[in-house]
Amino acid sequence: MRLDKAVSQVTDLSRADVKRAARAGRITVNGEPVSDTSTKIAETDEICLDGETVGEPGPRYFMLNKPLGYVCATKDSEHPTVLDLIDEPNKHQLHIAGRLDIDTTGLVLLTDDGQWSHRITSPRHHCDKTYYAHLADRIEEDAVAKFEKGLWLDSEKKRTRPARLEILFANEARVTLNEGRYHQVKRMFAALGNRVLELHRERIGDIVLDEELVEGDYRSLTPEEISSVK
Ligand code: URA
Repeated sequence: MRLDKAVSQVTDLSRADVKRAARAGRITVNGEPVSDTSTKIAETDEICLDGETVGEPGPRYFMLNKPLGYVCATKDSEHPTVLDLIDEPNKHQLHIAGRLDIDTTGLVLLTDDGQWSHRITSPRHHCDKTYYAHLADRIEEDAVAKFEKGLWLDSEKKRTRPARLEILFANEARVTLNEGRYHQVKRMFAALGNRVLELHRERIGDIVLDEELVEGDYRSLTPEEISSVK
């Protein structure tokens, strides 16, 4: 990441302010003054402004539009990870609040605020998650009631919690769940003899995937989005 971006993200300086500060010799990287703000900064570099370390801001919160083929992990030996799409200092401190399968696209939240992500992922909080699903076969009308009643999934001791199924077209639906079992949407449709061809997460709680984000892009959450997770 460029020095001007790194500093402006964690201070209240604009990029132009950062440039002026750098020219005035107020910015050092690993102890050396740096006047060129296009200089590339590594995650481990120590940046100081007027002798004070910058780069330890409050918690960070991002939404990402996850493309196909990326894994929701911080490291993987075979596949690219969602962190490869993030260009932030100390990005390895971020974690994923609710993973998606490698072949699922859409909304992923990343943060370094453990309590906030716990409120999304903890089974006790019942945070709603909404998915668009494209199915191999026609969705039977009685699937709505079956999702509402809860389904028995292979090797599980409890029925799934009531889920909302909205049939959009013959083989397209919107599903809202408030739990997060392994491959849950795919397994729920499999329990009805159907197969998910495409799955895309649209919403987590009140946070809706921003339509402006093309696949692979991310942005910071707004203060309203952050405080909507209670
Ligand atoms: N349910 C699934 O089956 N896969 C996901 O990625 C998310 C929910």
